[in-house]
This record gives sequence, C-alpha cells and structure tokens, in this order.
Amino acid sequence: MAYQIFNTDEIDHQQCYRLLIGSIVPRPIAWVSSLDADGVPNLAPFSFFSIASHYPPLVTLAVGEREKHLKDTSSNISTTKGYVIHTVTDGWEQQMNASAANYEAGQNEFDEIGIDTMPADLVDAPRIKDCPVAMECTFEQMIEFGDEWKTHLVIGRVLRWHVREDLILDDKYINPQTLNPVGRLGGPRYCRVNDIYEIKAPYIQPDVAHPNDPAE
Ligand SMILES: Cc1cc2nc3c(=O)[nH]c(=O)nc-3n(C[C@H](O)[C@H](O)[C@H](O)COP(=O)(O)O)c2cc1C
Repeated sequence: MAYQIFNTDEIDHQQCYRLLIGSIVPRPIAWVSSLDADGVPNLAPFSFFSIASHYPPLVTLAVGEREKHLKDTSSNISTTKGYVIHTVTDGWEQQMNASAANYEAGQNEFDEIGIDTMPADLVDAPRIKDCPVAMECTFEQMIEFGDEWKTHLVIGRVLRWHVREDLILDDKYINPQTLNPVGRLGGPRYCRVNDIYEIKAPYIQPDVAHPNDPAE
C-alpha cells in the first residue's frame, strides 16, 4: 500500500492540526473549571491533555491562543493557581461542547449553560456537581511554544481526586467499564469506550512494583 508523505515544512498550521488530531486518537477530554482574578468561574474542554508524571502527579493542558491573547483557562490558572479537571463521561457531551463556546471573559459559563457546581476542598475554583471523577489541581508551570501560532502548555499538580464511590474497583482502581469516558477524535467526532479487553504488560507496572517498600 502506498503512503502519502506530509513534511511539516511544506504544510501550513491547519494541515498540521488536522494530522495531529487525526493521528493522536482517541484523546481524553479535560473539562476544566478555573477562576479569574475577580472570582468569576470559567469552564472549558481541552483534549490536548495528558499525564506528564505519575509521581508527583502532574498533568498537562496545551492551550492555544484566541486573537493573540491567552484563553481564559490558561490566563486564570496562571493567575489564581487552583483549578479542577473533570473527566468527560457519557451523558455530559452536550454541556461539555456548550462550554467550548467563546464566552466573554467575566461571563459565568456555569450559569449560562446551566451546570450546577459545588465547592472544591483545596482550591477556590468550583467542582461540577455529579461529575464522576474530578481532580483538584494547582498550577506548577507554563511553557510557551510557537511564533505565529502560540500554545501555552499548562502543567499542574493533582492535589486531590474525587472518584464516585461506585466506580472504585478493588478499593484502588477506577472501573473503566462503568466510568464510560468520552474520547475526542478528529473534527467534530467523538467515541465511547464499549469494547474493553486486556493484554498483560511484559514488565511489572508501577501500580504493583512498590518501589518505596524496602522489602520488595
Ligand atoms: C472537545 C474539545 C476539545 C478542545 N480541546 C482544546 C485544546 O486542547 N486546546 C485548546 O486550546 N482548545 C481546545 N478546545 C477549544 C476550547 O475549549 C475553546 O477555545 C474554549 O472557548 C476555551 O475557553 P476559555 O477561553 O474559557 O479558556 C476544545 C474544544 C472542544 C469542544
């Protein structure tokens, strides 16, 4: 089968974007609640979302710019530090998508969309009520990339997880069978997780390795 070649130095930013969002799939969606300096809450989804380190637990969001300015999320997190990342699961897609609309800074997106909140424990940004998994995070570092198109890689540390009790498996795992996470594909496409299978890793995974236990 023939392959088509795309060289970065021969394609524009849109084609780079299309190839990235088509190649790196499915992507989890971080649904991020943050607060501006006046205490106005903000909500937005980000699928350029990943784990930077498991211990300390560091997570990254790659946030683009809007009209050459920081988006509200990266601006808020770097200013007020505390934020909450929610895992997007089945049933929340429409509200998640609505929160990606371009609201004016200072507008309360939770009120506009009709999403109930509850206080977080350790940070000032609100938690979405009834979201099955929420991570309270604190800002660590922001790294800027790009010239014409800038991205801010926001690195944060997870301080606390809230995991709905019925999702806990063997007292320590999150059950992927009942979590029903939503994945982002290219363009307007999303996917559900409904065909889970297992493959044993050919090494001892960190969750069973106990590197801090001298007896191991
Ligand atoms: C599913 C989904 C994933 C998205 N992922 C990203 C992303 O990774 N980075 C980004 O800059 N924008 C992303 N967006 C667009 C932002 O959510 C959108 O620009 C939003 O208005 C930003 O809000 P803010 O200005 O309140 O931070 C995504 C939108 C959707 C619907």
